[in-house]
Amino acid sequence: MLAKNGRLKIAIQRNGRLTDDSITLLKTCGLNFEFQKQSLYSPCSNFELDILAIRDDDIPEYVQDGVADLGIIGENVLKERNAKVEILAPLGFGECKLTISIPQKSKIKKISDLKGKRIGTTYPQILKKFLDSNRIEAKIVKLSGSVELAPSLDVADAICDIVSTGTTAKMSGLKPFYTVMESQAMLISNLNSMRDKKKRKLIDRLMIRVRGFLEARGKRYLMMNAPAKSVEKLKRIIPGLKSPTVVPLAENNMVAIHSVVAENVFWDVMEKLKNAGASDIIVVPIETIIR
Ligand code: PRP
Ligand code: ZN
Repeated sequence: MLAKNGRLKIAIQRNGRLTDDSITLLKTCGLNFEFQKQSLYSPCSNFELDILAIRDDDIPEYVQDGVADLGIIGENVLKERNAKVEILAPLGFGECKLTISIPQKSKIKKISDLKGKRIGTTYPQILKKFLDSNRIEAKIVKLSGSVELAPSLDVADAICDIVSTGTTAKMSGLKPFYTVMESQAMLISNLNSMRDKKKRKLIDRLMIRVRGFLEARGKRYLMMNAPAKSVEKLKRIIPGLKSPTVVPLAENNMVAIHSVVAENVFWDVMEKLKNAGASDIIVVPIETIIR
């Protein structure tokens, strides 16, 4: 049976905000698989791993119970479900906010105005903790989806839901009022899988690749030519350019400079680099960095 074939299993969201980025992460880790939303399992052909595509809300429990060894899940869902799992790494994608939103014309101005109000949510646990810690007695209306419709159906006076781009809330005539928590995708593991010798070995191998992915994110490889005497000046222009590789060129007194730089600083300094004598500037993406 597939469920007990001794291979590592990682649960990812079948269809939603985290799906594409989860697949990109696994592919960048060099895993070879064909992902099919319709099928529960997608086996990797070059690693002892199967990808399990399920509803995100089920991922914490499935990992806790060992149905999957690993999972990629939003911090928001993880906190709401309160499952006993180990967090291996924040993944830097799927960023969103769990936010209390109110109708455009609402009279709610400050947090204490929520007192006695109905708040619709699919995150009752997190909301309850938030209200308790602010000593606000409000009615939590537990919903299972389409939370943004609750105010116009007069089921709630406010909602507490995920805001990513903000389009869903805006289209429903709601405005953000208070951020309860910020969230991103997390890589989690079953506790027993971390203690199992064979599985741990596979997890460790996979983690080296995941760290390489995280390390390379937001970075570019920069190459340029420059007069040897400009090297110090160029180093001052790019903050990340601390210990670049400097290679002499056949042409007299010219060098090639190679370095890893943050992608967000690059465009700002392009002109300064040229003015400092750099030429033939090449910037290429980095897939992974193994340290
Ligand atoms: C959230 C939330 C909204 C949407 C907000 O759903 O319930 O529907 O995302 O995104 P926006 O601000 O970009 O419009 P989620 O992706 O968590 O889906 P799920 O509830 O089906 O898991
Ligand atoms: Zn969901």
